[in-house]
Amino acid sequence: MNDLNRIKARIQGLRERINHHNHLYYVLDSPEISDAEYDELMKELGRLEADHPELVTPDSPTQRVGAPPAASFGVVEHPQPLLSLANAFSYEELAAWHRRVGNLLGGQRFDLVCEPKIDGLAVALTYIDGLLVTGATRGDGYQGEDVTQNLKTIRSVPLSVPREAPHRFEVRGEVYMPKAGFKKLNEQRAREGLPLFANPRNAAAGSVRQLDSSVTARRPLDIFIYALGWAEGQALPGSHWEIMHYLKSLGFKTNPDIALCRSMDELEAQYRYWLDRREKLSYEVDGMVAKVNSISLQQELGTVAHEPRWAIAYKFPALQGNTRLVDIGINVGRTGSLNPYAVLEPVRVGGVVISHAALHNEEDIHRKDIRIGDWVIVQRAGEVIPEIIGPVLSRRTGQEKVFSMPAQCPVCGSEVIKPEGEAMHRCTNAACPAQALEKIKHFVSRGAMDIDGIGEKLCQALFEAGLIKDAADLYYLEKEQLLGLERMADKSAVNLLNSIEKSKLRPLARVIFALGIPHVGDQYAELLAERFRGIDQLARASREDLLALPAVGPKMAESIDAFFRQEGNRQIIGKLRSAGVRLDSKEAEEAQPEELPLAGVEFVLTGKLESFSRPEAEARITALGGKAGSDVTRKTSYVVVGVDPGSKLAKAERLGIEIINEAQFLELLNERT
Ligand code: IVH
Repeated sequence: MNDLNRIKARIQGLRERINHHNHLYYVLDSPEISDAEYDELMKELGRLEADHPELVTPDSPTQRVGAPPAASFGVVEHPQPLLSLANAFSYEELAAWHRRVGNLLGGQRFDLVCEPKIDGLAVALTYIDGLLVTGATRGDGYQGEDVTQNLKTIRSVPLSVPREAPHRFEVRGEVYMPKAGFKKLNEQRAREGLPLFANPRNAAAGSVRQLDSSVTARRPLDIFIYALGWAEGQALPGSHWEIMHYLKSLGFKTNPDIALCRSMDELEAQYRYWLDRREKLSYEVDGMVAKVNSISLQQELGTVAHEPRWAIAYKFPALQGNTRLVDIGINVGRTGSLNPYAVLEPVRVGGVVISHAALHNEEDIHRKDIRIGDWVIVQRAGEVIPEIIGPVLSRRTGQEKVFSMPAQCPVCGSEVIKPEGEAMHRCTNAACPAQALEKIKHFVSRGAMDIDGIGEKLCQALFEAGLIKDAADLYYLEKEQLLGLERMADKSAVNLLNSIEKSKLRPLARVIFALGIPHVGDQYAELLAERFRGIDQLARASREDLLALPAVGPKMAESIDAFFRQEGNRQIIGKLRSAGVRLDSKEAEEAQPEELPLAGVEFVLTGKLESFSRPEAEARITALGGKAGSDVTRKTSYVVVGVDPGSKLAKAERLGIEIINEAQFLELLNERT
């Protein structure tokens, strides 16, 4: 074999191995190699392809990272329309549908498949000669948008399929954002001062409809394939149930919770089962879909008005309730934004008492015509902060008050402005105490400097006592000052000072993130740290230097530039430096790891712990140099099991990871402190 052939063979071998491990990890959820080993394979493939660009193929795993931004989406014609579903909101409506199907089929017996109705967005994936060639949104059912590059970034979307697959075919499915990923994304956006997504469906749709697919690549998206659209060149199974198994065998991610039901009773039982457990699913569902199983019976039934007669969505009741909007409060955020929130008369919705709800901005409040004193409809969805859908107009008395944003900041009294093109009102005072306090809270938080033992309350107490005016002041606190605070004993004061001291060694990326530069989230902070390797270099960078980085756009460049120009911020950095906080990446990396007792040890927590909250437990782990992971992988050292553990326990057992209970966990922490 000559050199080029050898390289070709190596590339092919690497792609096959990577695809295999991708499938194990993202589709079957049972990895066989560590993340590091996987990264090694990807790196080698990347190197070989960089040296031989002529050997790059569209289905190479390296092509998932996103392509250059597009000016607009192309249009894709759907050879067969993507239909929508009729809804049933009660058992009676479902039974009526079932009877109708029975009648239309002239009394022939038929089975049903019952599956979760995933709340995301519908897409169609077309494969030709084994390769994914087009990924499109549903659009109006006949024409959708070409989002191929974006869908390629979703790891559970196969870029190629095995030889035995039909020559040309299309599968359909729902792209969604898992609840956990959604929560993290919104937390990150909140830290960056960006508008939040209202729910996982909007977040998924917004992420797929991005002109810059590298943005999509960073969003936690997943997919369930729920149908075969059309296929050419091969006889296919005769039932939906078998088709789902067939698609799974081709490498597609199908929903493991679909069930074959032989009667209405079985269907109703499935519905009830998932109605009780919907909140336990890792993704949002808004009902169950019932489909006639036999494909020939489906064809016999046909469609009417864009809806198949052979399927129906049996919707779950919305998690809604009515209550009174007592007032609208305002929080001033870290970047000075005035964030309105609803103060509600407490009401129980789906077993949870709600007394506050999100109100995004003034425009949103007026668009929904929500007035103070109104009866309003509140809705809760999974992990999301409850939302107000709108007023109950029939209960208006005329006494309700229209809300308007104050002209002065409720905290410092400075002028409030609404910058052109922005949805949020802002306090104009950079020294506003609310902003200062929020900045300090952000500085100490997990993901930032991660100072163990300082939570929001303590930040507030220190701030109100005048002991700190900005985050850098934390490093100048003395024990006597702390002892003057309420409920602060000698031991806790010492512990606190120790944690503050420890945080001086945090890596540069953490420091950059902790500074709270608007638009710079933790991932961008990593990037900036890697590129500039020191705060001074970053502060000196011109807008052009910043824009030269592939991921940095004009908004962020402007924000970074403006941040370092502000005298107040420069003073804080000066104080951090004098206090001995590492502001340089080399030193920080050297100083950080091995010294800490839990360095290299990774924990995953599942279930409720009795001695501390989840964030506290994670903070304890990270303070000792350990890692608190969210997924059980082969790299996990211990899985800590509390009350009512989730599926992570089973996964730990499967992977043979050491499982410890809370007492053992506490012992381990104490041993190492
Ligand atoms: S079947 C003709 N199955 O619901 C069959 N759809 O309201 C139509 N959806 O546009 C699709 N989960 O985006 C089907 N398990 C599931 C689904 C599902 C979610 C969405 C799909 C469709 C919408 C119709």
